[in-house]
Amino acid sequence: MALRHLLRDDDLTPTEQRHVLELALAFRDDRTFRQPLRGPQGVAVLFDKPTLRTQLSFATGIAELGGFPVVVDGRLAQIGVRESIADTTRVLERQVSAIVWRTHGQDRIEEMAAISTVPVVNALTDDFHPCQILADLLTIAQHRGGTAALAGQTLAYVGDGANNMSHSYLLGGATAGMHVRIGTPEGFPPAPAVLADARRIAAGTGGSVHVTSDPADAVAGADVVATDTWISMGDEDEADRRALPFVPYQVDDELLAHAKDDAIVLHCLPAYRGKEISADVIDGPRSAVWDEAENRLHAQKALLTWLLEHA
Ligand code: NVA
Repeated sequence: MALRHLLRDDDLTPTEQRHVLELALAFRDDRTFRQPLRGPQGVAVLFDKPTLRTQLSFATGIAELGGFPVVVDGRLAQIGVRESIADTTRVLERQVSAIVWRTHGQDRIEEMAAISTVPVVNALTDDFHPCQILADLLTIAQHRGGTAALAGQTLAYVGDGANNMSHSYLLGGATAGMHVRIGTPEGFPPAPAVLADARRIAAGTGGSVHVTSDPADAVAGADVVATDTWISMGDEDEADRRALPFVPYQVDDELLAHAKDDAIVLHCLPAYRGKEISADVIDGPRSAVWDEAENRLHAQKALLTWLLEHA
């Protein structure tokens, strides 16, 4: 089988995505039903940016798969500074069965995957967060009666249209056959190339893509309403530019009134109550964020299992 990586959401075909999600549902029912890392085998988990859920869920998940996580603090490893990405990759692949990396530019993880002989997983870059979207799709499947229910669901994401979550919702949602609606202020549009890819994928899956600067239009009739911080890791110096434009995009009860009555709310966390989401909504009955946080574990175990089967 050919070596596979997950660098962006459309690295999985619709069939493959569905397969990984089915596997994740099985892991949710029985946390050790498969142990592809038994031996045990190590998996390197590298962080060039802050983390809570990603480190927790990969470390827990890798142990539950029978292996052991080797968590590397990027401030110590200084990948691309102290030694090149290529040299780092050559060292890692000699000792571990897979590499999970949270870093800055997408080009960095692409450079690693281009030469790696073991699977490489994007644990968030500036451009994509595909592991989170797998967990989100799993959460939607959980609340809607299975993976078959994903196609045709309307997913509205309201917030920074140019960030990693927006891009991953576009690609991952389109792959799942969903209607993806992005509500974002002028000046923060999704990358045109990502939008084009999402539209092309949606044309093949029966999904669709809609981008609007009207938050109510984005949320109208939605089955799922998602948001994310207005200031992503690395955007901190833009706090002033971002302070005002996003205010009308807060997911609160008023905005949520435009969605379906049974709409669920997602947030990848960390959440800033009173900014992108109101406390009433995130702590209220329509919030599925704690299921979503748990589902990181099941989704990543399924992904690693699938990638190791192809390695
Ligand atoms: N867009 C956010 C996601 C955090 C999980 C960030 O990149 O900081």
